[in-house]
Amino acid sequence: MPTLTNRQIVLRRRPHGLVAAEDTELVTTPAPEPAAGEALVRTTYVGVDAAVRTWLDDQPGYLPPVGLGEVIRAAGIGEVIETRCPAYTVGDIVTTLTGFQEYTTVRDDLFTTPVPGPGDRVDQLAVMSVYGPTGATAYFGMTGIGRPQPGETVVVSAAAGATGSVAGQIAKIAGARVVGIAGGPDKCRAVVQDFGFDACIDYRNDDLPAALRRHCPQGVNVYFDNVGGRILDAVLGRLAHKARVVLCGVISSYLTGEHPGPANYVNLLAKTASMQGFNALDEWGRFDEAFAALRGWDEQGLLTHRETIFDGIGSCVDALNGLFTGANIGKTLVRLAGS
Ligand SMILES: NC(=O)c1ccc[n+]([C@@H]2O[C@H](COP(=O)([O-])OP(=O)(O)OC[C@H]3O[C@@H](n4cnc5c(N)ncnc54)[C@H](OP(=O)(O)O)[C@@H]3O)[C@@H](O)[C@H]2O)c1
Repeated sequence: MPTLTNRQIVLRRRPHGLVAAEDTELVTTPAPEPAAGEALVRTTYVGVDAAVRTWLDDQPGYLPPVGLGEVIRAAGIGEVIETRCPAYTVGDIVTTLTGFQEYTTVRDDLFTTPVPGPGDRVDQLAVMSVYGPTGATAYFGMTGIGRPQPGETVVVSAAAGATGSVAGQIAKIAGARVVGIAGGPDKCRAVVQDFGFDACIDYRNDDLPAALRRHCPQGVNVYFDNVGGRILDAVLGRLAHKARVVLCGVISSYLTGEHPGPANYVNLLAKTASMQGFNALDEWGRFDEAFAALRGWDEQGLLTHRETIFDGIGSCVDALNGLFTGANIGKTLVRLAGS
């Protein structure tokens, strides 16, 4: 195979707030040669998740921080183009930690999952939005911790985003009444019209506590929280008896690293409610179960997915910053050359 060039975004400086142009550098290197036991993957879509920003801080987390000079870590999807690993065949589509780069090598380990089916027939957008780690996160958080029952009221924040849009649809499938929270009228329209929620509160323009009283007259049975901060506090103030709060993420404080405590946590006591965090990676051994359930619902026409797609390796940082300025509806992806 002729030598391929690999364009990568590496971290040069730890960002403060949004990622600045000087915090990263676009470098070009030869694509790696797969060693024995490895396969070479050409990235088709880089998935841009909120977690990527947390890995740029020098803070302990469930994965180590990205080091200065290293390629920025991200989960994506691509095609096996050369293989020295018996687990993969040329043409396989895999989800893996592609990083912000065009080519990567993979091994037969838990970070890489082959997508079933002939490569040319795989719907890669559906995998990234629904049958991949994003869908699995929504599935484990909503079905394992939220456990919505028919007729209950479920509230989901960042409802127009990748994780929230799937989480809310899973609650609808369970028979709950689902209220989203999102920023701005366009997003609220998408949450109701595209993702099928019953209502959506615009937290940028509405009086949040008043809107929660109006949309959740019997209180909130399940809250799937992607954002933390003042939105978490407002929903805690509206919990129903025995409510379950699913702590999925805290995006409102990823740029500052400061996590103000919610005053309304006392309502957990008053309502004998529970609040539980989770990490989808802990459920790695059950991803097949999640994908089978999500695929089944999708085949019945019960799930909708949308993507916000940026083009080219040079747009990775803009795509990442867009999660914090609210630029995306659905899953944020960067399409790379070769897709
Ligand atoms: N626990 C896990 O295993 C796990 C796994 C994956 C993701 N997550 C978490 O899930 C959450 C969503 O991640 P994602 O990758 O799916 O991103 P996403 O929801 O597609 O995009 C992030 C959305 O967050 C909202 N947002 C940003 N800053 C905000 C703020 N200050 N206040 C309120 N809303 C804000 C924006 O929507 P608006 O325009 O509506 O504000 C933005 O579109 C994150 O907290 C992430 O860490 C957790």
